[in-house]
Amino acid sequence: MEKLVIGGGNRLSGRVRISGAKNAVLPIIAATLLGQDSPSVLDEVPSLEDVHTITAVLRELGVKAEFCAGTNQLFVDGTVIGRCEAPYDLVRRMRASFLIMGPLLARCGQAKISLPGGCAIGMRPIDLHLKGFEALGASIKIGHGFIEAAAPDGLKGAKIYLDFPSVGATENIIMAAAMADGQTVLENPAQEPEIVDLANYLNVMGARIRGAGTNVIKIDGVPKLTGRGYTIIPDRIEAGTYMVAAAMTRGDVYIENAISEHLKPIIAKLKEAGATLEEDTEGIRVTCDHRLKSIDIKTMPYPGFPTDMQAQFMAMMAVSEGMGTVTETVFENRFMHVDELKRMGANIRVDGRTSYVTGTDRLSGCQVKATDLRAGAAMVLAGLVADGETQVGYIHHIDRGYDNLVEKLVSLGANIRRVDE
Ligand code: UD1
Repeated sequence: MEKLVIGGGNRLSGRVRISGAKNAVLPIIAATLLGQDSPSVLDEVPSLEDVHTITAVLRELGVKAEFCAGTNQLFVDGTVIGRCEAPYDLVRRMRASFLIMGPLLARCGQAKISLPGGCAIGMRPIDLHLKGFEALGASIKIGHGFIEAAAPDGLKGAKIYLDFPSVGATENIIMAAAMADGQTVLENPAQEPEIVDLANYLNVMGARIRGAGTNVIKIDGVPKLTGRGYTIIPDRIEAGTYMVAAAMTRGDVYIENAISEHLKPIIAKLKEAGATLEEDTEGIRVTCDHRLKSIDIKTMPYPGFPTDMQAQFMAMMAVSEGMGTVTETVFENRFMHVDELKRMGANIRVDGRTSYVTGTDRLSGCQVKATDLRAGAAMVLAGLVADGETQVGYIHHIDRGYDNLVEKLVSLGANIRRVDE
């Protein structure tokens, strides 16, 4: 097993380029299953474990899928789909595998997928995905660890209201409805930039989707979609993580390829904490030469503060001046990094969905673990500013979502390396 070893007291400076967005590329890879006649070629595909997992899922379906690490291109030929069943072994590795349900239903009229199971950051049910499929006319059966959906006569457009703007349910429903008969109106959908990216790709393939990124999405079903080329948007969470790293280490970093429009709550909160941010069309420069002030954050669906940045901000607040609060409203159990930060000397008290963080002068390096992807990023950030050496274990979680993390941090002058345990 590998771990990260981080020497403390780093100050980051230089330029870092943000990779394609994990949460955009995963649904878009699932959507390649809708493309007939010609293959899809995706550009700016980050080299991540999650990308390799969903690509393996496609191959399991008999689809040709090839990733080229040198060019960050993924080639998928969805012309022929051999089978409509995804096995437990792959689905259990990554919940987002469930995103193939919508496209398979649309393309094959049926799909059988292993239940994704529980997850470290809460129950994460899929009821909203299933309600959406049922509204489109599919019948759902659950048993023996599998979910089976069938729509032998095809899906039919419908009016669907989501009780909560779930990102995954919005994506699955859009993909299923893209080839349904008639119009689907999706109310209270997720409005994340990754939803807009998926809709843009589907529209390039010939779909008729309007309103992505707003609170009503209208999808006029088309009989057929065609494989096409598409470039994935930059990862706003990766960008946010480097922005926090720059501010926390009192550094000076230009984050190339960061889209300010997608990063509004992160920019606002970093400014409130006392960092200096300069935005231009190519990226964002983050500088800081003093100790940051604590702030209050509350996670919300987009355009609110992203739950995927909560752990990193908590690491920042652990060394800021004063007391701040972190309230998590999206997931019910996303404070596992608190105990790990406390091992490094952080002063944090959890009461229900709110953590009270009182900044300390210095964290002390020690052995910690990445309890999930973003919690892992928080441990790396804490390690960068701690006294002495920090060792972060269970880094397979970090590899799920950060492209070349060690190389990028080293290029900014960080003392970090990957070693075999
Ligand atoms: C996506 C992101 C993840 C991010 C999350 C919230 C991907 C691959 N992952 O996950 O990084 O943290 O959005 O921004 O894009 N829920 C239900 N029923 C459902 C579906 C969801 O109750 O059918 C609940 C979940 O339990 C959770 C909340 O809704 O509490 C948000 O989940 P959702 O928006 O669906 O997140 P994901 O799509 O799984």
